[in-house]
Amino acid sequence: MSQAQALWWASESFWRKTAIWVTAVSFVVLIFLTFDTVKQITAGSKRVPAYSVINQRIEYKFDEKRNFQAPVIGREEPLFGKKLTEQEAEALVSHGKMTTQSKNCIDCHTLLGNGSYYAPDLTKAWLDPVWGSKESREEAMVEFLMNPQLVAHNGIGRKMPNLKITEPEARAVVAFLKWMASIDTNGFPANFKSIDQADAPAAAASAAPAVQPAPAPAQQ
Ligand code: HEC
Repeated sequence: MSQAQALWWASESFWRKTAIWVTAVSFVVLIFLTFDTVKQITAGSKRVPAYSVINQRIEYKFDEKRNFQAPVIGREEPLFGKKLTEQEAEALVSHGKMTTQSKNCIDCHTLLGNGSYYAPDLTKAWLDPVWGSKESREEAMVEFLMNPQLVAHNGIGRKMPNLKITEPEARAVVAFLKWMASIDTNGFPANFKSIDQADAPAAAASAAPAVQPAPAPAQQ
């Protein structure tokens, strides 16, 4: 008896109680984290702007404190020159998201960390300098999405196949890409040079046509 008291940590009842407590506390923590995550990834929260953000200019600026490029939502700059209500913007962005899902873009691309690295990461594709000037960007993207086999603008030596994307689908995908670029992803993907960055080849990008005929010269 006295020996059993001395070895309290070896008793079965101690470990049973410990197991029950650990399970119960982890359960509560997991429920809390689930609600907290859902809140943080909902459109209209601090890091994930509302869909109507596509009515505004989206830039990337270097954040000294966090030491990476972070999205900055600027003045009004409606997509395709048409200001949308929150509902219209949500419908358009959702259509774009559905299109990326039905056409399986993540077979080749990465969106917000999901997908493959056969083709460029699309998380910030909206701000890729290859689209040329800000004014022609969205039309250049629509044209590319409808006829990607005609161009090779990234110099990665691969071309995107024609996925028979219709014009309304392409416009919706562009809205989805613009909205996605406004999400604060903690700097992911790293080493992305956006169109507005001071050290980006801005002059070269705006002087060159939005898309160049194949084959593109190797750049990287
Ligand atoms: C079979 C593989 C494949 C699939 C599927 C695919 N792509 Fe691509 N995509 C590519 C390749 C390869 C490139 C690079 C082409 C180039 O540099 O000209 C590319 C380039 C792009 C670019 C330009 C990226 C940038 O920043 O310059 C966009 C935007 C894009 N794809 C969107 C899409 C969307 C949207 C879908 C789904 C509807 C899709 N892709 C499906 C292979 C694919």
